[in-house]
Amino acid sequence: MTQKLLPAISIACFAVLGWFAVGHAVMFEVKDGNSTCIKAQLSANFSITYPVTNGTNTVTVPLPSSAKVGSGSSCGGAGVSPELLAVFGEGHSLGLVFSHNQLLYQVANLSLSYNLSDSAIFPRSSSKDVITMVTNTSEISAQLNTTYRCLSATIVHLEAVNITFFDVRMEAYMSSANLSTDETVCSADQPTTTVAPTISPRTTPSPSPVPPGNPEPGNYSIIGTNGTVCLLARMGLQLNVTYYSKSQNKTVQSIMNLEPNNTSASGSCDSTAATLLLTEGLTNLSFTFTLNTTTSKYYLSALNLSAAWPDLTVSLIISNSTLDYLQGTLGHSYMCSTEQIIFVSNNFSLNTFKVWVQPFGVKDNQYGSADVCSMDQESVLIPIIVGAALAGLVVIVLIAYLIGRRRSHAGYQTI
Ligand SMILES: *[C@@H]1O[C@H](CO)[C@@H](O)[C@H](O)[C@H]1NC(C)=O
Ligand SMILES: *[C@@H]1O[C@H](CO)[C@@H](O)[C@H](O)[C@H]1NC(C)=O
Ligand SMILES: *[C@@H]1O[C@H](CO)[C@@H](O)[C@H](O)[C@H]1NC(C)=O
Ligand SMILES: *[C@@H]1O[C@H](CO)[C@@H](O)[C@H](O)[C@H]1NC(C)=O
Ligand SMILES: *[C@@H]1O[C@H](CO)[C@@H](O)[C@H](O)[C@H]1NC(C)=O
Ligand SMILES: *[C@@H]1O[C@H](CO)[C@@H](O)[C@H](O)[C@H]1NC(C)=O
Ligand SMILES: *[C@@H]1O[C@H](CO)[C@@H](O)[C@H](O)[C@H]1NC(C)=O
Ligand SMILES: *[C@@H]1O[C@H](CO)[C@@H](O)[C@H](O)[C@H]1NC(C)=O
Ligand SMILES: *[C@@H]1O[C@H](CO)[C@@H](O)[C@H](O)[C@H]1NC(C)=O
Ligand SMILES: *[C@@H]1O[C@H](CO)[C@@H](O)[C@H](O)[C@H]1NC(C)=O
Ligand SMILES: *[C@@H]1O[C@H](CO)[C@@H](O)[C@H](O)[C@H]1NC(C)=O
Ligand SMILES: *[C@@H]1O[C@H](CO)[C@@H](O)[C@H](O)[C@H]1NC(C)=O
Repeated sequence: MTQKLLPAISIACFAVLGWFAVGHAVMFEVKDGNSTCIKAQLSANFSITYPVTNGTNTVTVPLPSSAKVGSGSSCGGAGVSPELLAVFGEGHSLGLVFSHNQLLYQVANLSLSYNLSDSAIFPRSSSKDVITMVTNTSEISAQLNTTYRCLSATIVHLEAVNITFFDVRMEAYMSSANLSTDETVCSADQPTTTVAPTISPRTTPSPSPVPPGNPEPGNYSIIGTNGTVCLLARMGLQLNVTYYSKSQNKTVQSIMNLEPNNTSASGSCDSTAATLLLTEGLTNLSFTFTLNTTTSKYYLSALNLSAAWPDLTVSLIISNSTLDYLQGTLGHSYMCSTEQIIFVSNNFSLNTFKVWVQPFGVKDNQYGSADVCSMDQESVLIPIIVGAALAGLVVIVLIAYLIGRRRSHAGYQTI
């Protein structure tokens, strides 16, 4: 009896729940003719807040196994970015638009469209609209020709939606029909045991020697499409990276200077974004500067580090595209002699020394007048204040002395 009922119940459940029915990760493949350009195995939970008559309601729904590659998907081409559009249920879709540079590909735009008139998922919704939310800060990026792997849950926040991705393996700009066996493992999947704290460096063989001194400043420039220099930079750079060391079987913290002699620069400039990619051996560091045309201010908006050092268990890719450092005004350069620490992620920060940079509006291969950082202004101000205080003291002593002399003079005269 029960043996007969059980399948019937589960069939009923599947019928009622519709796209709630989830198995494991859903596989998607985007093709152009016979060649595959995007392959993705994804699991995702969407947490969506929507309006109801007496306030708001939040539901959590998974990406159903019935999701399909939608017709908006494409391998891209002249000026069009490749896109995977996964469609499911009554007019819902998840869109991943990819972009790449010489080194990395990434999810440039992540979007979710959901149809509030689907009352099975959005009960009592007071709206019947199709809502679309987009973010360009998904942090999903990987080295070209490798598979992005992230089995751990990672959350992407959109306005009224949180998307939890897990069990993800995907690749875009594929060079064969199969996912590459080389993987770029997301930081959440890296073995992040706590940093081994108090083992004396002398008793353990360390692949990195004693911490280096301050880095040498290097000069870098980028030539734009019209043949003139569009970005100038002079700076000393030091990486502060925490990673799992193969040779030491533990998490280590490593301080490395970029040697200007061994570092090559490449990149590109356009009207509102400029990229400087520095390569030293198996280390690639890219800076993205963004120009805000309303305020005419530029700033360092993103940093990407990718490394394939022999001591790593998996190649390292760390990026943060929501930075706001090295701010200057269009037409000016930015200058900062004081050391700065640019926090990129829990396992990577970049220490900068003697920075002089101009990512936009370079004229005749020369730096414009400098916007000096506030730390430098303070360090100039302190000697001025001390000097002024000393000068004041001298004046006071002098006045006191003169008054004293007058008094004693006056004293003699009365006698
Ligand atoms: C695609 O594959 C089919 C059969 O497998 C073949 O006939 C066709 O020529 C291929 N097209 C291209 C563009 O390679
Ligand atoms: C996704 O949602 C399902 C069902 O709501 C839940 O069992 C699972 O733990 C969720 N996974 C993550 C990574 O949040
Ligand atoms: C809104 O109405 C629903 C059903 O009538 C009820 O379950 C829910 O508690 C109400 N929420 C609020 C915030 O009043
Ligand atoms: C991402 O979306 C923004 C705004 O929707 C758009 O301006 C930008 O071109 C998109 N980027 C890509 C690579 O499609
Ligand atoms: C990726 O692979 C393709 C084909 O094998 C090759 O042409 C390309 O240079 C590779 N790109 C990188 C960044 O390794
Ligand atoms: C998304 O996550 C944030 C922080 O964890 C939380 O405050 C917010 O309520 C969540 N929103 C939804 C729609 O789940
Ligand atoms: C080259 O392009 C830059 C902007 O990228 C512009 O400011 C500059 O005037 C151009 N130079 C020439 C010679 O056209
Ligand atoms: C490296 O970063 C850690 C924190 O992640 C910090 O405690 C340490 O002082 C930094 N070292 C240098 C030399 O910047
Ligand atoms: C690290 O671990 C591996 C296997 O787990 C072992 O063979 C190796 O000797 C260990 N190395 C060190 C330095 O402890
Ligand atoms: C870099 O090269 C210059 C000249 O080519 C040399 O004087 C300098 O010592 C080199 N620095 C390092 C750290 O190798
Ligand atoms: C430019 O700056 C203004 C003021 O800080 C800000 O409101 C605006 O969103 C910025 N624009 C872009 C494209 O970041
Ligand atoms: C990216 O950088 C910003 C500003 O330094 C920081 O608040 C944020 O936590 C960073 N994101 C990650 C994922 O570490």
